[in-house]
Amino acid sequence: MEQITIGFAVCGSFCTHARAVRALEELHAAYGQIVPIVSETTAATDTRFGRAHDLMREMERICGRRVIDTIAKAEPIGPGKLLDVLVICPCTGNTLAKLAAGITDTAVTMAAKAHLRNGKPVVVALATNDALAGSAKNIGALLDKKNLYFVPFRQDDPVGKPTSLVADFDLVAQTVAAALEGRQVQPLLLPPPAK
Ligand SMILES: Cc1cc2nc3c(=O)[nH]c(=O)nc-3n(C[C@H](O)[C@H](O)[C@H](O)COP(=O)(O)O)c2cc1C
Repeated sequence: MEQITIGFAVCGSFCTHARAVRALEELHAAYGQIVPIVSETTAATDTRFGRAHDLMREMERICGRRVIDTIAKAEPIGPGKLLDVLVICPCTGNTLAKLAAGITDTAVTMAAKAHLRNGKPVVVALATNDALAGSAKNIGALLDKKNLYFVPFRQDDPVGKPTSLVADFDLVAQTVAAALEGRQVQPLLLPPPAK
C-alpha cells in the first residue's frame, strides 16, 4: 500500500453521499491514510437521503479518525503539510463557486486553501444541477486552475435536468492516482447514461 495521505471532503450534495462513501472506501483500501472532512452544511443537515450524524460516523469508521468539521480544525492542513492530495467529493455548485472566487468560509474551502498553498493537487468530483448554467463560469475558471483536477463528469439526465453535471464516482480513485502524477484523467467529458 502506498504511503499517501488523502483528505476526503464531503459537501452538501446529499443525493450523492452514498456514492461518495463507496469512493472513500475504495481510496481507503488503496491508500490507507485518509483524513475525513465535511462542510458545515453536511455536518448540520438531515435529509431524505440520510442523517448527518450517520454519515459522519460512517466516514470516521472507515478512516479511523474524527472528521474535520470546522475552519479551525482544517487550518493546520496548510502549515502541517498534512495531505498529499485533497479530494472534494461531492463538490457542490456552492463550494465550486467559492473555490473559483477565493472565498474561504467553510471547513472544506479552508482545507482547499490550506492545501493548495503547499502546491499539492486538489481533485473535484462535482455534482450540481446548474453546472451548465450558473456554475458553468466557475467550472471554466477551475479547469484553468493549477493543481486542480476533475473527476470525469457527464450530463446525468440531459432531458430531465438539462443543466446538470455529475462526476462518475467510480473514477475517483483513478483521478486521484493521475493527479498525484500531475495528470488529468481523460476523457473529462463522459457520454450520458444509456436510456
Ligand atoms: C436535499 C438536498 C440536496 C442537495 N443537492 C445538491 C446537489 O446535488 N448539488 C449542489 O450543488 N447542491 C445541492 N444542495 C444544496 C447545497 O446543500 C447548498 O448549496 C449548500 O449551501 C452547500 O454547502 P457546501 O458547499 O458548503 O456543502 C442540496 C440541498 C439539499 C437540501
